[in-house]
Amino acid sequence: MPIPATATTPLPADFERVRATSVELASTLSPEDTVVQSMPDVSPTKWHLAHVTWFFERFVLEPFDDSYRRLNDGYDFLFNSYYYSAGQMHARPKRGMLTRPTLDEVLAYRRHVDAAIQKLLHDRGDDAEIISRVILGLNHEQQHQELLLTDILHVFAQNPLQPAVNPSLRIPASSAPDSYAFVTGPSGVHEVGASGEGFCFDNETPRHAALLHEHRIGTRLVTNAEYREFIEAGAYHDSNLWLSDGWATVNERCWNRPLYWAEDLESQFTLGGQRDIDPHAPVCHVSYYEADAFARWAGARLPTEFEWELAAVAETPAGNFMESRYWTPASGSGSQLFGDVWEWTSSPYAPYPGFEPLAGSLGEYNGKFMCNQMTVRGGSCVTATDHIRASYRSFFYPDARWQFLGIRLAKDGVA
Ligand SMILES: [Fe+2]
Repeated sequence: MPIPATATTPLPADFERVRATSVELASTLSPEDTVVQSMPDVSPTKWHLAHVTWFFERFVLEPFDDSYRRLNDGYDFLFNSYYYSAGQMHARPKRGMLTRPTLDEVLAYRRHVDAAIQKLLHDRGDDAEIISRVILGLNHEQQHQELLLTDILHVFAQNPLQPAVNPSLRIPASSAPDSYAFVTGPSGVHEVGASGEGFCFDNETPRHAALLHEHRIGTRLVTNAEYREFIEAGAYHDSNLWLSDGWATVNERCWNRPLYWAEDLESQFTLGGQRDIDPHAPVCHVSYYEADAFARWAGARLPTEFEWELAAVAETPAGNFMESRYWTPASGSGSQLFGDVWEWTSSPYAPYPGFEPLAGSLGEYNGKFMCNQMTVRGGSCVTATDHIRASYRSFFYPDARWQFLGIRLAKDGVA
């Protein structure tokens, strides 16, 4: 299946912009910062910078440029993530053991591949398959930009000195939201999935009909103050509120508050360092289990991914994204469907009817993960603005908390 290729700016300029953003995101880090892997789900910054470069080397340059020469043959093993059809790879939990190549060597690798891609675009920039793969590579790199930030937040959160990843981030203003309300969403049979305009990942296809039951969806995100009420009501000690797997996880891991919240529930660790919790900002860094338990406690449920999508498709994707330079969720007056936090849905991450993965190795990109994970929607405060859309599906295991993950409520029936 070809990937629609509709860059809004010339592709070489888009390529330069996206590639430069990755380096800029890491510019406040020391070389030591970029090596550490704080848990198996976290990849070191240096690895992210190299892996996205490998993606262009392996899936664009090597198949389409006979004159391309690798900078280092060993990088193919080190920086392959999970593409078994492309070869063997370094073990994911050991990415933090790689003191070599150095950060400087990784940056040189980036420049080597950048120059080769720009030459290829100059020489064969009208080749539809090359264009499609470069656009896929840029969207892949934007996904890793978000991962770079979420992962380095987890790394820095382990440090008792509580350093800021970026000390120059803006601090959002705080304003009290309206009381939580619900609006009736469309019911009946509706088309969902990628519209066919612009880029999409294969997991957003094919567009198809879905049946929605009568429902109402929350007009905003759940706030820190509301989540604090849930904690103070004893929810983490009430088995009635939890899914069985959630209750087991809460007890095994001794969870009693969102990841990064201090024990006194007054402050939290952010990419800007330790800060007071804004009671009006959306709650963040909660698992699916916590989102589901909160919804039950509130007399509601989580929206399905299609209830979310039909609410979002009427809106222009705008909100608190990476470019806002807050890098933390912010209180707001709108729906906040886009930006701030990825929103847990009650929908398992599964293939759409008639789903076909991309051909070849790139078929490993999304399809093989469609088991045991939940769909999240809407992007976050560390997602690039031009990376999100109503049909976009991301996915996490239900115990994941290190991503910017939050809560919107829904209810059955109409008002
Ligand atoms: Fe990747």
